[in-house]
Amino acid sequence: MIDINNKELDYFQPIQIAEGVHWVGYADSNGGLHCNPYIIIDDGEVVLIDGGSRDDFSTVMLKILRLGINPKQINRLIYQHFDPDLCGNLPHLEAIIPNPELKIISHKDNNVFINYYSSASPKLCIEEIGYAYTFKSGRRLEFYRTPYAHAPGSFITYDCKTRTLFSSDIFGSYDDVNWSLYSNIPKECYNCKPEINCRLTQTECPIHSILDFHRKNMNSAESLNYALDQIENLDPLLVAPQHGSLIDSKEKLTMIIDKLREEKYIGFDYFLQRTRNGKD
Ligand SMILES: [Fe+2]
Ligand SMILES: [Fe+2]
Repeated sequence: MIDINNKELDYFQPIQIAEGVHWVGYADSNGGLHCNPYIIIDDGEVVLIDGGSRDDFSTVMLKILRLGINPKQINRLIYQHFDPDLCGNLPHLEAIIPNPELKIISHKDNNVFINYYSSASPKLCIEEIGYAYTFKSGRRLEFYRTPYAHAPGSFITYDCKTRTLFSSDIFGSYDDVNWSLYSNIPKECYNCKPEINCRLTQTECPIHSILDFHRKNMNSAESLNYALDQIENLDPLLVAPQHGSLIDSKEKLTMIIDKLREEKYIGFDYFLQRTRNGKD
């Protein structure tokens, strides 16, 4: 396991975050977001989760190659919903993966739209495969639906071997603050009411950035809380979101979940509330 206190992490390289699990992500300077594709290598079998955008294909692919992976080892592409920040490079990936066994795993409500990126590879629906993918070694990935958090077909992926949860857009964050792969929230901030600028550190508040992302990008408090229930039940050791930073302690995860649950105005309710207050 990586030493997360090591400040010398080289973000130009793939970074191992758990046994056989590697971050192969990048900063999207256009969108003001970090995007975090992850790759799982298990006994020579490879699965890529939320592969990334079209423009950043070369960055992701270079990191995959630096892991010593031959693209034909990639067996499955998992897409936890259908947005372009995670699906945009699908045609590029298909072009470079000479594996006739390559299949896409998503939910059928996502596959309708993923077909518009490419209809070349067969698409499996998580419901039809028992909400799980099992590597040849027996390592099991489980899929849990998180409907409308934020897409109708959204789901999250749990690696039973390492207890890593790939949480898709849940726990995402804008890059308003200095990004680091492992979330860096001072303990002093756990009990404070998040504001844009932290009263303690006088810098932009990472918790505020997470809350802001969910207010705008999740559909409703109800759908977000449903997703948070799933996550709490799984009790992961490590949470790996598609944007923002890794959450590597239960205490930190609980704090963020509690703050998200306090948010009453999410999605359309957030829009209405801002409109009523003359902010939109
Ligand atoms: Fe999304
Ligand atoms: Fe996203």
